[in-house]
Amino acid sequence: MSIKALKGFKDILPEEAAVWQRIEATARDIFHRFGFAEIKVPILEKTELFARSIGEATDIVEKEMYSFTDRNGESVTMRPEGTASVLRAFIEHGLHVRQPVNRLYTIGPMFRHERPQKGRLRQFHQLSVEALGSEHPRLDAEVMAMAALLLTELGLTASLEINSLGCPACRPAFKESLVAYAKARVGEICDDCVRRSDTNPLRVLDCKNEQCRIAFREAPSILDHLCADCRAHFAAVEEGLGALAIPYRVNPFMVRGLDYYSRTTFELLSGELGAQSAVGAGGRYDGLVAQLGGPALPGIGFAMGMERLVLLMQQAGEGQAQLASTVDVYVAALGEAAGKAGFRLLHELRRKGVRAAMDHEGRSLKSQMKQAGRLQARYVFLLGEEELKRGELVVKEMATGEQTTVALPGNTGAWCETVAGKIGL
Ligand code: HAM
Repeated sequence: MSIKALKGFKDILPEEAAVWQRIEATARDIFHRFGFAEIKVPILEKTELFARSIGEATDIVEKEMYSFTDRNGESVTMRPEGTASVLRAFIEHGLHVRQPVNRLYTIGPMFRHERPQKGRLRQFHQLSVEALGSEHPRLDAEVMAMAALLLTELGLTASLEINSLGCPACRPAFKESLVAYAKARVGEICDDCVRRSDTNPLRVLDCKNEQCRIAFREAPSILDHLCADCRAHFAAVEEGLGALAIPYRVNPFMVRGLDYYSRTTFELLSGELGAQSAVGAGGRYDGLVAQLGGPALPGIGFAMGMERLVLLMQQAGEGQAQLASTVDVYVAALGEAAGKAGFRLLHELRRKGVRAAMDHEGRSLKSQMKQAGRLQARYVFLLGEEELKRGELVVKEMATGEQTTVALPGNTGAWCETVAGKIGL
């Protein structure tokens, strides 16, 4: 029996990989415009890194991590997200001494043992962005504007929702009033929420259970509990978004699945993704760098799910990126001698930067032409024994069917110049 991929782990086949390449290229281009530099971090980290940053009482750390004991007896985890690893590297290499604000991004696979469904995988990929070193609310607006621009340039739309989760000064009082509200409704809410109201109360606001949604509809709002500093920060973030004409909606029920957030949080939601509507999400984490043993530096970031971007692009008909395996020139050679000469010509073309292909199996002209069509070749260079003897080559333009005979000079290097010049490659 053949072996299949694991559940929730997906192969990305060539047609789809072309869409991925387009997403990555657009993202890099935009990130660089905003001054972000790429950082590459390992997939495997000490388990403690995620427990300390994402939080012990989160679903991710409690139930979803791919953790195991390695051969040295150390507990290690395949990263469930990028922020913790990027911050670990930032601290480990003292990047903050080099410049006041560090803008970093990373692209790669993340692992969470969730229940797979449309847009939700166990291995998924994120474009993950972090800006460290400033708590200015304008940075929050700038980072959200960058996320919105990326979607626009990919031809996609999503709605931006924002919230503030307050800070260590104002959140405890909010938590208390939320817990009191939950405890008064123990009979109406699910067992998970009863438990969460002890372990991680904010999460009750995010419960998908219909009963709980109804029960918490009138729950206290974090926005009514913000301290003066957090309120001013949130107002300035709104002002920043307004200045850049970025549309948004305030959603006081938005809590995030990771514990490290403070103040601004945001999500980019799409109605086209079914239950998994968040195409991207993030927020501020002003205490996290210090919590991981680094300097007391604030930060904000977000991540976009690449599989979800691909789904949206395919649905929007934007997923028709050109296959990397299409060619400019197909060299169709007939006979052994023409095959040899064609092989040299093929390599010369490639050295010149032309996408070229050729068949080595000695197939018929008909089947070679079929293959040229499959590869969407713009030109076919026909080389038979007769042409070779006469020092000629037939260039066929596939779109028009027009054929021109080109006389070839002495060697294939010069041939290449001649034919390439002829067709403007
Ligand atoms: P997150 O909300 O856990 O945040 O994930 C960000 C995005 O990753 C989601 O909006 C979604 O598009 C995608 N995603 C998450 N889980 C899955 C999954 N199982 N399958 C497919 N896509 C998924 C974070 O990870 C934070 N590190 C974001 C951040 C960066 N905050 C600050 N900086």
